[in-house]
Amino acid sequence: MNNIDVLLGLQWGDEGKGKVVDYLTPQYDIIARFNGGPNAGHTLEFNGFKHVLRTIPSGICHKDKMNVIGNGVLIEPNIFMQEIKDLEDKGFTPAENLLISKKAHLILPTHRLTDAANEKSKGDRKIGSTLKGIGPAYTDKIARTGLRINDLFAADFTDKYNKLKQLHIRNIKALGYSVEEFKIEDKTLEEYEKLWFDAVEKLKKLTVIDTEYYINEQLKQGKKILAEGAQGTMLDVDFGSYPFVTSSSTVTAGVCSGLGVAPQNIGRVYGIIKAYCTRVGQGPFPTELFEETGDKLCEQGHEFGSVTGRKRRCGWLDMPALKYACMINGVTDLMLMKIDVMDNFPTVKICTQYEMNGTKTEKLPYNLEEKINPVFKEFDGWMQSITKIKDFKNLPTQTQNYVASIEQMTGIPVTMVSVSPDREDTIIRNN
Ligand code: GDP
Ligand code: IMO
Ligand code: MG
Repeated sequence: MNNIDVLLGLQWGDEGKGKVVDYLTPQYDIIARFNGGPNAGHTLEFNGFKHVLRTIPSGICHKDKMNVIGNGVLIEPNIFMQEIKDLEDKGFTPAENLLISKKAHLILPTHRLTDAANEKSKGDRKIGSTLKGIGPAYTDKIARTGLRINDLFAADFTDKYNKLKQLHIRNIKALGYSVEEFKIEDKTLEEYEKLWFDAVEKLKKLTVIDTEYYINEQLKQGKKILAEGAQGTMLDVDFGSYPFVTSSSTVTAGVCSGLGVAPQNIGRVYGIIKAYCTRVGQGPFPTELFEETGDKLCEQGHEFGSVTGRKRRCGWLDMPALKYACMINGVTDLMLMKIDVMDNFPTVKICTQYEMNGTKTEKLPYNLEEKINPVFKEFDGWMQSITKIKDFKNLPTQTQNYVASIEQMTGIPVTMVSVSPDREDTIIRNN
């Protein structure tokens, strides 16, 4: 039996997972998403073509590869069918190489209203959610009140839908709001429900199967599978900067529960990191930069959300957080993205320790909202463009030093260095 390889983000999401999955897809037979939903935005760029995927795995542009949406994923039918249509408009045939788990949970329009109501009720302490209904839909899953993809085929689906909708409406009212004060993409609930039910009819024509059997049978037959994570470890519901997190398991353990794979069948674990850090939404961010340096990273890295367009907060690489993520995930390979964004920085920094209450530590505190002074190590910048360099040994020595320092601090090899958004601009090491 083959093992399943895992690819996930080690920071606060948007590390560049989409690019790497697309790059690695030729080496695999199947790409499978195990968590999250349309809160994700995974960008692919090749041959002058740019595409952002939300719920569909990033192997979809390779027509001969199968893509699986696992039971751990959430599907919002209207967003999902729009995603299918966007791909079809660009000449792809996603319906032909996509399998959906019967057990994936549905995001209802009222989950999205509940998300908005929950955020409003939190005031200053809001999460900064993408408002795609992620938290409320996973809440229903755990509360055992959720609806799953296979429920769409049941004769009494509309009854089940209405029952859950009424529960959501009661909850919104209990928070002191009326349903009418929230919109879904500028539409009223009734307007949006129509789009949602139209999309459901189209979705039911796609291939819905028991993906856990499929994945395990394919592994037994010697097929190569890559599990694609959404978000990042610092947004994980258990290990992230709680409560400023998403509601799913974004870590390697999430592959087991989100696809139905046994722990002993986990193979390599590719940890994707940016050469610096970003975070979109609220919540603690120890190495955040507030002045020109942060703005420069944001501008040069085009750090605006691929889903919401929100400005991403930027800061230096955070080694205590990275080491923690490597530990939790069992990372075997690091893949370093967007190092080209720092091409014209005279110096760059890595936070090696946190200083808290006069004590230095390399460990993450229970509460990341405590007062933390990051201790930085400074490195010389390289002050030249590295985007067209194909071979690691042709990178400037300062760039090589920066990469070597990350390897030395984490004890994990950096096997890929990405130097532009394009599929082609990727340096592979220790091949
Ligand atoms: P994901 O959510 O982890 O898939 O990442 P996103 O797609 O949300 O954000 C990553 C952004 O960085 C996208 O706009 C990518 O096109 C871009 N990107 C990926 N790798 C590189 C790189 O090495 N250099 C630069 N400059 N941009 C990159
Ligand atoms: P990808 O897969 C970056 C953030 C939101 C918010 C918090 C909770 O593209 O890396 P949610 O909508 O899940 O309730 O939002 O998590 N967030 C992401 N940030 N990349 C993502 O996905 C994210 N998905 C959610 O901004 O702070
Ligand atoms: Mg993203």
